[in-house]
Amino acid sequence: MLKALTLSGSVRAASSNSRLAKAIGEKLMEEGVDVTNIDLLNFPLELFNEDSEAANGEPDAAVELAKMFAEADIIFIASPEYNGSVSPLLKNTIDWISRQKTGPYKNATFGIGAASPGKMGGVGGLGHLREILNKLGALVVPLTLGVGNSFNAFAPNGDFREDMVGRRADNMVKQLLNIRRS
Ligand SMILES: Cc1cc2nc3c(=O)[nH]c(=O)nc-3n(C[C@H](O)[C@H](O)[C@H](O)COP(=O)(O)O)c2cc1C
Repeated sequence: MLKALTLSGSVRAASSNSRLAKAIGEKLMEEGVDVTNIDLLNFPLELFNEDSEAANGEPDAAVELAKMFAEADIIFIASPEYNGSVSPLLKNTIDWISRQKTGPYKNATFGIGAASPGKMGGVGGLGHLREILNKLGALVVPLTLGVGNSFNAFAPNGDFREDMVGRRADNMVKQLLNIRRS
């Protein structure tokens, strides 16, 4: 059985990116994938500092996340757009994981998406996220999934309200399932 992780670069209680991550997770589960939704609140990491790393070693949260990444077949990241880029929480998490020697970015197929109250759906930050993941040796599927008007984009049951967004989310899942590393 394929294993997937979904995670959100926002830990805000009402985060629309967390909703997006969960919605993709639901669709993957419908396809028979074993999905774990990661809540970064459960993986607290200090702001990366090489002196602190040298003095204290690798934090448990980074070691655990790197292990989960290395063992996953699929990883979907919902990334809020902060001033045209990724959130500091997501970048800090990616950087800590990148310090682990377990090849955390080299196994899974990655999908990236964003949700934003704006019309563009936060896709302005996804170019940076793609570049960062590519630099780390990750395979990222071509589709970038933007969910605009995010405060009204999800029904109470977590489904996408707009059919067109739902179809793009289905395409994301198709790409994640069909594009495998060899
Ligand atoms: C520091 C900061 C910068 C932001 N910059 C952008 C931006 O460049 N583009 C955009 O669409 N939304 C921007 N936003 C609004 C976020 O898209 C919005 O807060 C969104 O709800 C965050 O995701 P979340 O709901 O998952 O927490 C910004 C928000 C913050 C706090």
